[in-house]
Amino acid sequence: MSIPVARPWLGEEEAAAAAEAIASGWIAQGPRVAEFESAFAEAIGAGHAVALSSCTTALHLALIAAGIGPGDDVIVPSLSFIATANSVRYVGARPVFADVEAATQNLVPETVEPCLTERTRAVILVDQAGVPADLDRMRALCEQRGIVIIEDAACGAGAMYKGRPVGAGAWLAAFSFHPRKVLTTGEGGMLVTPDREIAARVRRLREHGMDVSAAQRGASRQPVIEKYLEVGFNYRMTDIQAAVGLVQLRKLDLMVARRRVLGKRYQDLLAEVPGLVTIHDPGYGTTNYQGFWVELPAGFPITRNELLHMLADAGVSARRGVMAAHLEPAYSGQPCPPLPVTERLTANTLALPLFHEMTEEQQDLVVSVIRAAAGLHQTAATV
Ligand SMILES: Cc1ncc(COP(=O)(O)O)c(C=O)c1O
Repeated sequence: MSIPVARPWLGEEEAAAAAEAIASGWIAQGPRVAEFESAFAEAIGAGHAVALSSCTTALHLALIAAGIGPGDDVIVPSLSFIATANSVRYVGARPVFADVEAATQNLVPETVEPCLTERTRAVILVDQAGVPADLDRMRALCEQRGIVIIEDAACGAGAMYKGRPVGAGAWLAAFSFHPRKVLTTGEGGMLVTPDREIAARVRRLREHGMDVSAAQRGASRQPVIEKYLEVGFNYRMTDIQAAVGLVQLRKLDLMVARRRVLGKRYQDLLAEVPGLVTIHDPGYGTTNYQGFWVELPAGFPITRNELLHMLADAGVSARRGVMAAHLEPAYSGQPCPPLPVTERLTANTLALPLFHEMTEEQQDLVVSVIRAAAGLHQTAATV
């Protein structure tokens, strides 16, 4: 048996939608992107959604929209995919790494507050592995100081925060549609905001700063002479991607429900491994199980990397847990406070396979390897 770490749930409907977009003759950003944006904004309960080429480009434009630039500090978790920190560098600002809390792997006011200085202009709050961060608590810390919060909801589509979809309450929230995420368009991202002006500016910035979109120009029967209001980028999503995204969005609830069943099953099966901590819902919300991480306890018989090898030998493709950007050469030499929780988590966690079509048999195999590594005897449920 060979078990991938992730596998998008794509089928004939997505293939037909993509084929229709191609047959329409409009394959770059056009009507399907506009439709995907409206549908996504409605699903999230956000005022406006702007489709982009990735979450990384969404974060870049969010920082520009928030007016962040050289001389500014932006607090980010080191424990995140490196794109979170990189986006800060793109605008010439300085990422300042803060530690996370162990239970959610997210920034919390207690870890952010010691990092605040007069230069702090923004915090990028990540919903790591789809576990919602506590936005309201971070707001209580930041808003009185005029510090902007940008939510990096790359992993968050379908997760819930206090009864609302993740991203709904944010001023700026960026989503990813990379195939490792729950909802995918191949590559792609979305920025959501309640602010109409910001949405309009981000729409221009994704398209070279033009005051008229190529789609509007194409639809006009009269010649349109466009203006370039500021230096922008080509961060557009294609209509082929949006066509796939529209189908995936309709399946989002189903995909999250399936992942939650598998997540719960992993938790039950792994409960017998002494000291093993697994991803779980925080008290104020629910995860979409975009990832399923486990943390090996101190004294576990083998190291995390040895366990990854053991899983690979059994045909199971797992991954190390979330990386720590401050340990990468790209950020060497950057001043950084001690990050004990980040360093513990990045060394001792791994992401187990979890995908829509995963079978119980496949899940049992993954669990049996972990149980064996822990020195537990097999039970009927896990052989
Ligand atoms: C927390 C986080 N932020 C940003 C990104 C970047 O997303 P994208 O690949 O869509 O640019 C990722 C992707 O893994 C991520 O996990």
